Amino acid sequence: MRAVRIHQYGGTETLTLENIEKPVINDDDILIQVKSAAINPVDWKIREGYLQTFIPYQLPVTLGWDVAGIVTEVGSKVSEFSVGDEVFSRPAIHRDGSYADFIAVKADEAVLKSSKLDFSEAAALPLAGITAWQCLVDVANVEADQRVLVHAGAGGVGHLAIQIAKAKGATVIATASAANQVLLKEFGADQAVDYTKAPLNEQIEPVDIVIDTLGGDVQKLSWGLLKQGGIMVSIVEQPDEALAKSHQARGAFVFIEPSSRILKELNGLVEADQLKPLIEHHFTLETIVEAHLQSQSGRTRGKIVLDIS
Ligand SMILES: NC(=O)c1ccc[n+]([C@@H]2O[C@H](COP(=O)([O-])OP(=O)(O)OC[C@H]3O[C@@H](n4cnc5c(N)ncnc54)[C@H](OP(=O)(O)O)[C@@H]3O)[C@@H](O)[C@H]2O)c1
Repeated sequence: MRAVRIHQYGGTETLTLENIEKPVINDDDILIQVKSAAINPVDWKIREGYLQTFIPYQLPVTLGWDVAGIVTEVGSKVSEFSVGDEVFSRPAIHRDGSYADFIAVKADEAVLKSSKLDFSEAAALPLAGITAWQCLVDVANVEADQRVLVHAGAGGVGHLAIQIAKAKGATVIATASAANQVLLKEFGADQAVDYTKAPLNEQIEPVDIVIDTLGGDVQKLSWGLLKQGGIMVSIVEQPDEALAKSHQARGAFVFIEPSSRILKELNGLVEADQLKPLIEHHFTLETIVEAHLQSQSGRTRGKIVLDIS
């Protein structure tokens, strides 16, 4: 089968399209014929070697941890799937990924995809969608009528976070550059904020929840946007406890874990027409370098998908 692997950490020149053996599945795995995979910033962060100590891979490794496709084999202990099922998954990140014709995934990390999603959309949803759900629902316990600030609302995690927070009844404020203000409104944001126009504290009234997708100065500045008792959930940088205390707020860091429970919740929102991923860029295994460069640009609207078969 075809797979894009890296044999060493480094720039896009390390992305190698090659022919390798199909994965051999374990008893609790399914084998998925990959129809679509999605690109996430973590893919190129792993490629560059930034996460080496956190996830020590035995190279070579196949990149990509978002997949939608068709089940072609089931392990002997798997009862919930059959050959031919259309599934999607954000599989465990320590195994070979989805930039390939086939991927082996633990059955309890996959879910039947909603018929309202095509394969590209189903591949675009798991990693960013699970992350957004974990931040908003599992950690921040978002409630109707709370005010939620979503940083980078035009990006992969942000555009799904806006929709999930709206589905939970929250008032959503989202940030993006001038070019993406209309898009934020289309995703459902009640207030679209142009971060290039004026300081955020001049544009945003206090919120209950901040979803921090940017870290650094944006995170520091956002403490001043939280109400007393509010929470900052970051997916890029552990919030500073002392700063949290001084603002009488809480901070939390989320690193995504596979979750079929949350995939089912996302399917439910899709079925209710409350959630739809935007895919602005399609690439293939052959154009993987362009796909990574697009993700690294930091300017992607919605998601980047690889069409595989
Ligand atoms: N911890 C975890 O489990 C986890 C999970 C998923 C992602 N992440 C991390 O979270 C980050 C975001 O991921 P992603 O997939 O959403 O990234 P992404 O799709 O590449 O984000 C791109 C978006 O960021 C926006 N942006 C850039 N600078 C901005 C700023 N100063 N203010 C507001 N918006 C800005 C851009 O909009 P404009 O062009 O309009 O500025 C663009 O739409 C990445 O660092 C990723 O690695 C962590």
